[in-house]
Amino acid sequence: MKGFVRAALAAVRPVDVLPSPNIWHWPEVYEVENRAQDVDGAIWSALREEFDWAGRDVVDVGCGDGFHLPVLARDARSVIGVEPHPPLVRRARARVAEVPNAEAVAGPAQRLPLRDATADLVHARTAYFFGPGCEPGLREAERVLRPGGALAIVDLDGLAEPYGPWLCADEPRYNPVDVERFFADQGFSLRRVRALWRFERREDLEAVLRIEFSEAVAAKAIARTPGLSFEVGYRLHVRRKPAGIVLP
Ligand SMILES: C[S@@+](CC[C@H](N)C(=O)[O-])C[C@H]1O[C@@H](n2cnc3c(N)ncnc32)[C@H](O)[C@@H]1O
Repeated sequence: MKGFVRAALAAVRPVDVLPSPNIWHWPEVYEVENRAQDVDGAIWSALREEFDWAGRDVVDVGCGDGFHLPVLARDARSVIGVEPHPPLVRRARARVAEVPNAEAVAGPAQRLPLRDATADLVHARTAYFFGPGCEPGLREAERVLRPGGALAIVDLDGLAEPYGPWLCADEPRYNPVDVERFFADQGFSLRRVRALWRFERREDLEAVLRIEFSEAVAAKAIARTPGLSFEVGYRLHVRRKPAGIVLP
């Protein structure tokens, strides 16, 4: 079982830090994957329409090796990446060493090392942990958000062809309908986004599929994906923290 599905399942168990084999074991291949993902910026556009972070304070939970920190820092007032896996914290720190308004700190989503009401946007992208059972992390995000702020969770869409069925093929216990119901019950909106993944070399595309899926599913995915690009469906879930006093 590879990263995404394993994490989605682990979220129903009381696990603290969820193993993410793709980025933990193959950070260089994952870097290639991050560069290939969403080459047209469809996810960023959708996110900006939901909550514009220009001039605001942003937290990126489960930031991995910080790939998205410099992107967020371009417009944000400040960006803090939070990541529980120490080798990735080190990589994220190195990545933002020259970015004055960005930093990376160690910690899990369930215990953010941040003060109350200090962020306007809490962003989590394919950050393992955010699925059914992640209520402690949702409470933490709510705690660090200022009134009027937003929690935005970007994740893979298990219902979207072709990538979603590959995920489900690797782990039939992963039920994308249940995952969506969980976020709806928690008061999140849902927006589906299709992003284009485009690679420069065929061997990169194949290497990425191999770190994401079991051998059998990767072989099938590679055979069914000619060329250098394919579309991947994402879910963007957003929940705003009320700005004023909420009357009973
Ligand atoms: C697939 S990676 C995505 C990293 C990054 N968001 C990106 O898009 O490049 C999943 C990340 O979730 C992190 N993670 C696992 N358990 C976590 C937890 N309890 N709290 C926060 N992040 C967690 C992993 O360490 C890993 O860095």
